[in-house]
Amino acid sequence: MNIEPKKKWYGTVEIPGDKSITHRAILFNAIATGSARITNALLGEDCLSSIGCMRALGAEIEREGSTIFIRGSQSLKDAECYCGNSGTTMRLLMGLLCGQGVCARLTGDPSLSQRPMERVASPLRELGADIETTDGKAPVTIRRAHLTGTKVDTRVPSAQVKSALILAALGAEGETIVSEQLKTRDHTERMLQAMGARLCVEGNSVVVRKSSLRCVDVDVPADISSAAYFMALGALLGETVCKNVGVNPTRTGILKAFDRMNIQYFLENARTVCGEPVADIRVKKSEIRAAEFTREIMPSLIDELPILAVLCAYAEGESVISGAEELKVKESDRILSTVEMLRNMGAAATATEDGFRIVGKPSLCGGDVQSYKDHRIAMSAAIGLLASERGGRIADAECVDISFPGFYSLLKQTS
Ligand code: S3P
Repeated sequence: MNIEPKKKWYGTVEIPGDKSITHRAILFNAIATGSARITNALLGEDCLSSIGCMRALGAEIEREGSTIFIRGSQSLKDAECYCGNSGTTMRLLMGLLCGQGVCARLTGDPSLSQRPMERVASPLRELGADIETTDGKAPVTIRRAHLTGTKVDTRVPSAQVKSALILAALGAEGETIVSEQLKTRDHTERMLQAMGARLCVEGNSVVVRKSSLRCVDVDVPADISSAAYFMALGALLGETVCKNVGVNPTRTGILKAFDRMNIQYFLENARTVCGEPVADIRVKKSEIRAAEFTREIMPSLIDELPILAVLCAYAEGESVISGAEELKVKESDRILSTVEMLRNMGAAATATEDGFRIVGKPSLCGGDVQSYKDHRIAMSAAIGLLASERGGRIADAECVDISFPGFYSLLKQTS
């Protein structure tokens, strides 16, 4: 994909639905009683993987445009589930299937098959799960076992690990307490409560009792992680309004980052939709300043770090991002892929053990970049190149379909 440079970018954009919420709406409704309608669902490849797996397990799921209709099944059948590139599908299914007493084998594409799965399997065994990984990775085999509630800690700050444990706990005898050191996104807790689960949140712990779920309709807000690319465009080149964006406080680290970097933004039309806070986000061209970001903020902007790095490359001064070693186990090693992508477009970036250092410049020359077949690297590169002097070419650019189908056409939509 060739990206031509632009001097200005102004636009109001409808960003596709939230990936995390769409996955959860599919997976949870598929094991609940009744039927549900999910509107504004994201139909990127990752969420299609969740649909494919739940169909293989016996749920009835139909699609019409961006609406998904689900009839839940309380007795899933044993199956082989192909999770594609989707870490969320595989990790959440690991917990869900252990809790539902289903035998399954979970597989993924070459990238997913390199990502760590013991971080989920090992705490699940503390509940009594019979689950096996292949040298810590996929394929993952799950056999039926009786689960008993206990106190478990997530050893890494991961909403996927926390969610897997909560889902398993729905099928465990007694009470399970899932604790995390840093609070991660809480869409699982919110949706399960709306579905009638016996679950309460106490600080950084979630207390869960054996529960059955009833289906709920979900109207999915736009994904702030996808909106972030267009928010960055506004900050660099003019003004952007992203409509109906989910602004759950466990996801808005990027707005805190904007505060620190002197990027002007406004939340308009704030409201609550299906238990999730939503607003329109307006971002205006700003004199961007460098900033430091440390471990505590990471869970709330983990997926936005590549695009934040692009903004740092155009900021005045040196930015330092630390405590972000989780980036190493995403769809690519995002410490290395982010730094390489920035360097190829003329930025001064260095990888560190747990993040990166970036010395900003008023303008970047542009150039050809690798996406490492990682959707977030490809989209961050597109924004960096669009704001650069010469633009450039992105290799394997179509990987954006994982989370943002239509990304490149929306990029061309400017008034
Ligand atoms: C997700 C959680 C995050 C995020 C991923 C989606 C989720 O991963 O990076 O894109 O839906 O729970 P971790 O929880 O592993 O950090």
